[in-house]
Amino acid sequence: MNIEDLKELYQEAESGLNEALDLKTLEEVKNRYLGRKGKIAEIIKKIPALPEGERSLFGKEINVLKDRISKIIGEKQVSIQGSQSAKVKTDVTLPGSRFESGTLHPITLTMQKIARIFQHIGFSLIDGPEIETDYFNFQALNIPQDHPARDGLATFYLSDYRYLLRSQTSPVQVRVMQKVKPPLKILSPGKVFRPDNLDASHSFMFHQIEGLVVDRETNFSHLKASLEYFVKEFFGPETKTRFRPHYFPFTEPSAELDIACIICGGEGCSVCGRKGWLEILGAGMVHPNVFKEVGVDPEIFQGYAFGMGIERIAMLKYGIDDIRIFYNNDVRFLEQFS
Ligand code: DAH
Repeated sequence: MNIEDLKELYQEAESGLNEALDLKTLEEVKNRYLGRKGKIAEIIKKIPALPEGERSLFGKEINVLKDRISKIIGEKQVSIQGSQSAKVKTDVTLPGSRFESGTLHPITLTMQKIARIFQHIGFSLIDGPEIETDYFNFQALNIPQDHPARDGLATFYLSDYRYLLRSQTSPVQVRVMQKVKPPLKILSPGKVFRPDNLDASHSFMFHQIEGLVVDRETNFSHLKASLEYFVKEFFGPETKTRFRPHYFPFTEPSAELDIACIICGGEGCSVCGRKGWLEILGAGMVHPNVFKEVGVDPEIFQGYAFGMGIERIAMLKYGIDDIRIFYNNDVRFLEQFS
């Protein structure tokens, strides 16, 4: 028994392992060499018979041999198992497994659809903060100190009235005009907050999308044309519209835009309160006081602005009669939109 014998044994084991193509044969080869009564165990038994000077070296060589064989067996096992499971994967007769994927929330989808329509006519998207100050949410928008919207019942105040949760997306108009010189054409979607009790048509948090255009030649017909284009793109080319005079402190003149009721087509039904029309947004020409506040000369520049509630638009488009369903996280509802 000498080192040469060990080399031979290794070669023999290696070729045995090469021929093992399944786990059962591999197990047999493993037992033959590494098993309790295997060839290596037999050799170890013979160590005491060796001359004393050779024993230690021989023992070490046997350990090296064992490690090498174990390593090959491990690798072989992985490769056999891999090829077996690869075979299973290519069984085209197996029924497919359902791939569950999420969907975008209907509010996100509606927001994206609205944004895309306006982006086509040159609007850029911009974000604004949800925590605001009285200045941006009211004062700079020409909303007087005693306006009911400033009441604690209409706005959520934070930290002793120093901050508030914005009650509209209009403060973004002020922030943008303070930073960017006109011409401007921006759109700003986001969350707004009002202390309303939750019911079928109210929520303390909802979403709005704000639009603002400022340029030298901007007039009311531009406002009308862009918003009519939006309605036809979003609700369909046949949708009738009408502008109704209204009042907003930050625009003059101001208007609300109605669309012919999409349920009854204008006949009058319970959804439109028998009026035949549904209000979808507020708009108007930017008030000179707002321009002055942000340092834009109203003698040179004019602008129009608009704001709409995304939940309301989505409810009208998809025939949803309760706003709460958007926030319940019922997947059966949420997955119906794409
Ligand atoms: N901020 C208004 C609201 O929350 C909506 C609105 C009306 C926005 C007219 C505008 C506008 O930009 O010009 O009711």
